[in-house]
Amino acid sequence: MRNKIILSSAFTLSFVIFLGACGNEANVKYQRYYADGSQVYKIYCENCHMSKGEGLADLIPALTDTTFLRENRAKLPCFVNNGLKDSIQINGKIYQSLMPAEKNLAAIDVAKVLTYVTNSFGNNQGIYDVKEVENQLNQCN
Ligand code: HEC
Repeated sequence: MRNKIILSSAFTLSFVIFLGACGNEANVKYQRYYADGSQVYKIYCENCHMSKGEGLADLIPALTDTTFLRENRAKLPCFVNNGLKDSIQINGKIYQSLMPAEKNLAAIDVAKVLTYVTNSFGNNQGIYDVKEVENQLNQCN
């Protein structure tokens, strides 16, 4: 009986350690994506969308419309790689400008910059995994 109790608590303990390690690994990955993503953002996005994602007057939309970003999550990688010229509504305002295509960014950089954007400026949407981005880039039209 005693043995059984010890065994099961040893099992529980190792399970807890396993979960903890798992959580940490995911967290480390998220932190890395976020930090690298902020560098990509500075180079490729900040000129237009500005340092706090606030955009520029009637020309450049802000990156603070959490609902838009969540609803269009699957399209964001294509926006970055192929650019955007549709009329879109952000924070209740209509934009009809042109975002140029950015073909130089590899899927991993797109994943990182989107992780940064969707977890900054008041957004809190978790990691964009590179596999998710690759998958979505294959379906751009
Ligand atoms: C040359 C200026 C410019 C650059 C550089 C640029 N954008 Fe944009 N972006 C725009 C414009 C203009 C729009 C609106 C396009 C429209 O009206 O259809 C836009 C729209 C967007 C949108 C959808 C609307 C919104 O505000 O949520 C996202 C997301 C976005 N850009 C992310 C990025 C990211 C990430 C980068 C860097 C990899 C980037 N942009 C680089 C000008 C730019």
